[in-house]
Amino acid sequence: GMMKELLGLKALEEQIAHEYQLKKVIVVPGDSDQYDWVKKEMGRACVHYLKQHVADQATVAITGGTTVAAVAEMMGSDFQRDDLLFVPARGGIGEEVENQANTICAEMARQTGASYRLLHVPDQLSEDTYSSLISEPSVQSVLHNITSATVVIHGIGEAKTMAKRRGASEEFLQKLTNHEAVAEAFGYYFDHLGDIIHRERTIGLQLEHLNEEKQVIAIAGGSSKSVAITAYLKNRKSTILITDEGAARQMLN
Ligand code: G3H
Repeated sequence: GMMKELLGLKALEEQIAHEYQLKKVIVVPGDSDQYDWVKKEMGRACVHYLKQHVADQATVAITGGTTVAAVAEMMGSDFQRDDLLFVPARGGIGEEVENQANTICAEMARQTGASYRLLHVPDQLSEDTYSSLISEPSVQSVLHNITSATVVIHGIGEAKTMAKRRGASEEFLQKLTNHEAVAEAFGYYFDHLGDIIHRERTIGLQLEHLNEEKQVIAIAGGSSKSVAITAYLKNRKSTILITDEGAARQMLN
């Protein structure tokens, strides 16, 4: 309505924080559905937040996607942190190489002078492969880094958009329709209540690893993602939201 259109960004942030019980909300101007630079502004806002809130020697786990990639891009020269360790939150989930967590993780390390470790795990693991991979000492060691991360940065996507981008089968798309999936994050799919309807079987962070001790930063914007963001936040696993005006205004409707 009229009032919401008139709300300034600060007021939008406060209302969303209140309504979704988040510790911190950052809303950048614009709608990333319309302009690509808005996604970069979300990336910049995230870097600004990290500068002030990431402890020395922290391990930072990140997911894939174009929005988290924008965070890497904005790290640039004013975020030099050779004390940090970047790790991918989870193994492959069918993304193109530039959208994969491994790629973005290496890029963040390159930009900041930090260290990184990668997870070399194929997509679509069978039960057997999963259990043999998970017992590999090298996988165990990076898994230890991942689960002890104190900062997690992740994207949120619209369910069907993400499934299609990752080359999902017709059956899987049908499953999403049947269960009315609206959101995706970490390779998990959620309905509008935030209930999990599917999880990709891969190694790394599972939703139950997210707890109060971690700073969990969700970064997602664009008015087309407002339903997805709202649904995902019903789980309240993330405490910090970085979004844009396009998504934020819809989230209060
Ligand atoms: O899990 C969600 C996706 O990684 C979001 O991807 O930032 O390219 O929309 P995106």
